[in-house]
Amino acid sequence: MNPHDFPFSLAGQKLAGRSGILELMDDLGRAMTVEPDMRMLGGGNPAAVPEMQALLRKRMHELTADTASLDRMLGNYDPPQGNPRFLAALASLLKRTFGWDIGPQNLAITTGGQSAFFYLFNLLAGRFEGGRRRKVLLPLAPEYIGYADQGLEGELFTTCRPHITWPQGEGGRIFKYTIDFAAVEDALRREDIACIAVSRPTNPTGNVLTDDEVARLSALAAQHGIPLILDNAYGSPFPNVIFTDAQPHWAPHVILTLSLSKLGLPGTRTAIVVAPEKIASALAAMTAIVGLANGNIGQQIALPWVESGEILELGPRILRPFYEEKSRAASAWTREFFDAARVDWALHASEGAFFHWLWLRGLRIPTRELYERLKARKVLVVPGEYFFFGLREDWPHSRECLRLNFSQPANVVREGLQIIAEEAARS
Ligand SMILES: Cc1ncc(COP(=O)(O)O)c(C=O)c1O
Repeated sequence: MNPHDFPFSLAGQKLAGRSGILELMDDLGRAMTVEPDMRMLGGGNPAAVPEMQALLRKRMHELTADTASLDRMLGNYDPPQGNPRFLAALASLLKRTFGWDIGPQNLAITTGGQSAFFYLFNLLAGRFEGGRRRKVLLPLAPEYIGYADQGLEGELFTTCRPHITWPQGEGGRIFKYTIDFAAVEDALRREDIACIAVSRPTNPTGNVLTDDEVARLSALAAQHGIPLILDNAYGSPFPNVIFTDAQPHWAPHVILTLSLSKLGLPGTRTAIVVAPEKIASALAAMTAIVGLANGNIGQQIALPWVESGEILELGPRILRPFYEEKSRAASAWTREFFDAARVDWALHASEGAFFHWLWLRGLRIPTRELYERLKARKVLVVPGEYFFFGLREDWPHSRECLRLNFSQPANVVREGLQIIAEEAARS
């Protein structure tokens, strides 16, 4: 035996394995650093939004000019729950804007939403005393790839197939997934469910669950005495990259995750969880064990915008128009190239976030293989297979979809779509 071939624990093997999210982040990181000619339609990087970048640079200048604040920010650990001034300002903003009955004790900062989900899922689901196993119910597949491998051990998810219909009518190319509530209720009856979780807007599809769907999920969770986790990475109240009229939802049993990443600050790794006090305190305790404290730079950058309330305007004023236009342009190019290539295609309704979800019906190769062919032609996408974890049965549809990030410069997205259409026609 190789003396350095040290065995890993079960949890170690799970976390150190070749997960989809590792592959995705590796490809993304490499493409952004050492392969500048790669057309980046993969990954979840926000766009370089000029107006937002200007605001962030201005904030950095202000921070560096104020040496006392700068020294405090760089030279101190915050409490594990987060910076007290930031927590108080955000709780007050959410309470006065939306009427939510919360205070700072209901908030916890984490190192990005990704860590928040690792903590939340392993806190609420998994193995319990007496051999009991509880799971996270995802009411609608496909769902965010980043959740898939977060369980410390065993299968953590049970996922429901949605209702889905091929677009009807002349030239109809837009479809939408909707929740199959009979399937959700069946899963709640059949399994020991610890919580319901959903991203809104959904990564990968850009679906925004309707207010009615959210209200029904919330009522079901309340009825079963479990939390409903709403992942607002792209959603409301910020960054609010939502193109429909969806309203934010809160109730005492609801856990909301918010993040500064898609506002333009993924590098600061800052997320906020709004939760019942017991859960917010538990997250702070977990932060202390795993990392002592969170990074405090993101909170300091955003603090004045939270105190003034401006953070709620950045989405509607800057981000939503920017991404909506990107989505519109990418849809038009998709129609142009895929109609010309004579492939059977449809796009999910683009209701928010930065992604188009392309359904290539009848594709003869798995999208993982298409992904490899595209990578060889310098186009990076994310194969759809990764987003269908937790299903009870195989679903051929899961091998017919691609997630495409439309936030990169126009020439990159247009060329990428043209090459994808050519390769799809060949497959
Ligand atoms: C749906 C969803 N949730 C959570 C995250 C995690 O983001 P972060 O850790 O940067 O807050 C992402 C990132 O892309 C996402 O798409």
